[in-house]
Amino acid sequence: MASVLVLNGPNLGRLGSREPDVYGSQDLASLEKLLVAEADGRVEIDLRQTNDEAELIAWLYEAVDTGTPVILNPAAFTHYSYALRDAAALVTKAGVPLIEVHISNPHARETFRHTSVISGVASGVIAGFGFGSYRLALRGILDA
Ligand code: DQA
Repeated sequence: MASVLVLNGPNLGRLGSREPDVYGSQDLASLEKLLVAEADGRVEIDLRQTNDEAELIAWLYEAVDTGTPVILNPAAFTHYSYALRDAAALVTKAGVPLIEVHISNPHARETFRHTSVISGVASGVIAGFGFGSYRLALRGILDA
């Protein structure tokens, strides 16, 4: 395993200023630093963000083709994107780990956030630990 893909969906590029009461006040650059420190040279952290469903799906194909483990925060796509779910299933069916993560705990929020169409095809799900959700996911991948 040379690298881990850390994929972030819509509006996560606004972390730092977006609803800090829910998502904290740190941005994606801080998340990358935290994960690079956690990886401690064992793997490269390839962190990306997009608001575009098609781009996110293309990155999941890349994960399949290169056998690269994925930490995925699908953001709002979590709750309704069957296209993203099908692409995530391609990853895990190929035997490549895909961990779904959330900064907040969607189950403690609005009802529409209680459903994840991704969880059923993910290798694991971690939510509610702030950026710690990503760190725990990385640990799980590295320890597997
Ligand atoms: C989120 C939770 C989603 O419900 C929301 O749409 C997001 C972020 C989280 O990380 O807590 O954009 O995935």
